[in-house]
Amino acid sequence: MQRLLLIGVGLTGRPYVAAARRLGVRLHVVETEANAAALADLVDEITVCRGMSDEAWYEAASDAARTARPDGVVAFSEPHVLAAALVADELGLPGPSLKSAVLSRNKALQRARFAAAGIGQPEFLVAERLADARDWAAERMPVVVKPLSSAGSAGVELVADPAAYDEAVERRGGEGKLLVERAVTGPEYSWEALVREGKVWCANLTAKETTGPPYFVETAHRTVAEVDGEARDRVAELGAAVLDAMGMDTGIVHLEFRLTPGGPAVMEVAVRTPGDRLMDLLGMAYGIDWYETVIRMALGRELPPPPTALCRTASYLPSAHPGTVAEVQGLAEVLAHPAVVEAEVNVAPGDAVAPLRSSAGRVGQVLLKASDAKTLEAALDEVRGTLRVTTR
Ligand SMILES: Nc1ncnc2c1ncn2[C@@H]1O[C@H](COP(=O)(O)OP(=O)(O)OP(=O)(O)O)[C@@H](O)[C@H]1O
Ligand SMILES: [Mg+2]
Repeated sequence: MQRLLLIGVGLTGRPYVAAARRLGVRLHVVETEANAAALADLVDEITVCRGMSDEAWYEAASDAARTARPDGVVAFSEPHVLAAALVADELGLPGPSLKSAVLSRNKALQRARFAAAGIGQPEFLVAERLADARDWAAERMPVVVKPLSSAGSAGVELVADPAAYDEAVERRGGEGKLLVERAVTGPEYSWEALVREGKVWCANLTAKETTGPPYFVETAHRTVAEVDGEARDRVAELGAAVLDAMGMDTGIVHLEFRLTPGGPAVMEVAVRTPGDRLMDLLGMAYGIDWYETVIRMALGRELPPPPTALCRTASYLPSAHPGTVAEVQGLAEVLAHPAVVEAEVNVAPGDAVAPLRSSAGRVGQVLLKASDAKTLEAALDEVRGTLRVTTR
């Protein structure tokens, strides 16, 4: 029986557990104490992690690897990437490569690597303190300010002019190192690729919708996205160049970029499970389980022939005005819609809704599936019009 070490599970990583069960592997997971209890009956062994830092995950993963002697290791989310890559490297197991993992964890390192590789991206400056980049930013307004290692758009903001920059310095001066970038424009996409020994086995393009400036919180994803032939070629070239620049070996890659008038500009890249239920959207669209495929690759198992898209899927991530929730309307109607696969609202009357500043502030999720892009778009419109969370 093969043995899999899964680092991190949380809630949204549960499909990895189900896939491991289906594949008949012995499953050892690393989780925090808070999450471990709920996994007790689902996995063979748990090593408890003492914190949430890269260091804590690696400490626990190393300990687990010693006893589990795994045949494969999978990182669930961003904080688990480095620990998994280190373990894979130590044991000679398939993995993204140490270089890919280090770059995945740090957007400023990505920028430096991609600049050297000639890959399209916004002009950038790493500021030890936000105030240090004031003059640089003043010549390039608007700019985007962001942490080096975060996710869910937390701490990402557009700064439109020098006065706003001074205000941001006032507010965020104590945050330490930040990345300041020229704000580029153009529709945004993500590229999800399953990669084995540096070669793309299956890649997909997803159209990303956000709230836009200043906080760019993701509100919808549509996959399989269509772009014209010219753009399709640019995307394929970009994907190949990014994999090469990262020294990507084996695993899943989630690349985000904008198609600017001057060509694709990378927003960021990560070698871990994409969020916002994208894995489920991809599973429905391609008729293969992407979690299971990630595990198969980690264990060095054979893969079926690469799939082609069967249908279109989307996720809609509703938000609400800040205030106290008065009413949730339309959920039953949305659930009854033929294109809706799943819908949930995670606030109830009386709950407080804070201003939308990151992914964590959204109030639910709806997954949709349709035979073609037009039907999917109509369904998305209906869902948006029907599902309402009103606040006072
Ligand atoms: N230089 C830029 N120009 C224009 N838009 C940008 C720029 N940098 C970031 N953004 C916008 O902000 C969003 C979040 O930025 P980024 O992906 O770097 O942060 P994140 O916290 O990792 O986000 P997430 O985890 O939600 O993908 C991007 O998806 C994009 O819409
Ligand atoms: Mg991002």
